[in-house]
Amino acid sequence: MRMLVLGGTQFLGRAVAARAVGRGHAVTCAARGRSGAAPPGARFVAIDRDRAHGLDALRGETFDAAVDVARDPGRVRRALAALAGRVGHWTFVSTTSVYADTATRGQTARTAPLLAPSDDGPYGAAKVASERAFDRDALICRAGLIVGPGDPTGRFSYWIARLARGGEVLAPAEPDDPVQWIDVRDLAAWIVHAAERGLAGPFDAVGPPCTRRAFIDTCANALGSACTSAWVDPAFLDRHGVGRESGPFSLPLPLPDTIGDASRDVAATLAAGLSVRPLGETARDTLGWLEATGGPITGLTAGEEAALLAARHAERGYRPSGP
Ligand SMILES: NC(=O)c1ccc[n+]([C@@H]2O[C@H](COP(=O)([O-])OP(=O)(O)OC[C@H]3O[C@@H](n4cnc5c(N)ncnc54)[C@H](OP(=O)(O)O)[C@@H]3O)[C@@H](O)[C@H]2O)c1
Repeated sequence: MRMLVLGGTQFLGRAVAARAVGRGHAVTCAARGRSGAAPPGARFVAIDRDRAHGLDALRGETFDAAVDVARDPGRVRRALAALAGRVGHWTFVSTTSVYADTATRGQTARTAPLLAPSDDGPYGAAKVASERAFDRDALICRAGLIVGPGDPTGRFSYWIARLARGGEVLAPAEPDDPVQWIDVRDLAAWIVHAAERGLAGPFDAVGPPCTRRAFIDTCANALGSACTSAWVDPAFLDRHGVGRESGPFSLPLPLPDTIGDASRDVAATLAAGLSVRPLGETARDTLGWLEATGGPITGLTAGEEAALLAARHAERGYRPSGP
């Protein structure tokens, strides 16, 4: 196939381009060239989606498939207009943040209610507006938490770096609460697979849920690390001003108020070819990447975590658990 990746110079877009090159496709990555480089074997074309004629460098070209990772509906519409009639199959990389109900467990992509679309709204609402710009024969790939080597967000990397250190680990919410993630390489492989088959419609692109306890224990075991988990409820984190999901002084795992976003029913995606590698493999590869690059990590520092553990010990109801 002739395949266009709008983006393709960082994390997911780059992994999609690399996978497509590996599958023997002729791949073009189109971006400004600020975030990084296209992978080896892919052609880079400089575009700027914020400029009125910013996609002119692709004028006259046709593609069997295109993948767009944009977050801004204006950029999406501009690209669809500029490439109208010249792309066989579109994939739009959206997010599970498009869903309105973040509490109910086991929801599916085809039936779950969406946020109201908004061009200027928060991330999820803007992604809904972007999804609406595509025809019914496009694949709407709603990714969950994307993890693995190269992750620029540092959220999964926090857990890998923390668990590799061993010892008592501050862990948020209930051990049996669900968590979901997708290795960037598995997501990229599925996006290319789906494009090859012309898959259409909305799919949640994330692995099946597992418990937090299994998530932490599996990673620790894979890293050869001895850890115990000190579970703390969200009220404890709020009392101590610990942030949710990302950023400095946070514990980067979703909390129970977004549990619906961590327990999606992905049977349809698995049936459509998503293959999920073992978590231990993702953990080991991420640690190797962190050691090689010092890649970004977001969350608590070792000193901040130690102070919170001391506060936890001082409170009633302390429940150590672990392997
Ligand atoms: N990380 C997660 O856990 C998560 C979860 C759910 C969904 N998602 C979705 O997954 C996707 C991640 O994509 P990604 O990893 O490839 O990162 P990204 O941050 O979406 O990549 C942006 C790409 O667009 C290019 N770009 C930015 N501004 C541009 C402009 N004005 N004109 C042309 N190109 C421009 C960038 O390259 P230049 O800067 O060089 O132009 C880069 O290649 C996103 O759609 C995100 O919403 C992520």
